[in-house]
Amino acid sequence: MRKLLAANWKMHLTYTEAQVLLHRICAGLDRLPDHPPVVFAVPYPYLLLASSVAQAYAGVQVAAQNVSEYPEGAYTGEVSAAQLKSCGVAYVIVGHSERRQFFLEDDSRLLGKLKRALDAGLRPIFCVGETLQEREAGQWQSVLSHQINRTVLQLPAEQRANLVLAYEPVWAIGTGHTATPAQAAEVHDFLRSLLGAQGQTTTILYGGSVKPGNAAELFAEATIDGGLVGGASLDAESFLQIVQAQTL
Ligand code: PGA
Repeated sequence: MRKLLAANWKMHLTYTEAQVLLHRICAGLDRLPDHPPVVFAVPYPYLLLASSVAQAYAGVQVAAQNVSEYPEGAYTGEVSAAQLKSCGVAYVIVGHSERRQFFLEDDSRLLGKLKRALDAGLRPIFCVGETLQEREAGQWQSVLSHQINRTVLQLPAEQRANLVLAYEPVWAIGTGHTATPAQAAEVHDFLRSLLGAQGQTTTILYGGSVKPGNAAELFAEATIDGGLVGGASLDAESFLQIVQAQTL
């Protein structure tokens, strides 16, 4: 099953707000029996809360938004893949453009994070995407090939099978500008071709200003397996409408 919807809460919400939103969304999901699997990527301190809520609902799982590239040890402030796993976490976002841009996470560090996550039995949601400048210069294919070649294609094929990809054009994240369904589909097909035969079974999400108003047309593309939703996942009604767009 390739379909998946992930909510990326980034650095938003207090604990109480997170609690309320989780319960609201999960109660709504309960009324949508055929909904695709839903993953909540919550801030670290809320992971245990989210995993206990997720246990009570079918088809709901929890993601961390980051993971250390080190297995364990004296790395103050870091959280390891094994620690995440021990808190009931199933997925982890790796390589989000905000991590690449603000925390200078380069491909070799991201490859380390992918390896640690996969070794610990977590499923990475690995984000790739080009900037506006790169798209306008006609470079999106070379940028994405580079991002995939130096990370995903360095992993053994059997580990790659556990990876979810997210195409997140940097120019569409939090900007209100969404890739058109045709633009996103073209990139998803290109990503599948980079992965060879495995590309046909890889879950590839689209992320970047997914909203109730554009979700259905994006998800109507056969090559788009769901969404990584930021801003619109902070509102129960909006997120549930997006889930429904995937279900329809
Ligand atoms: P957005 O964020 O939906 O607010 O554009 C998506 C993301 O960064 O994952």
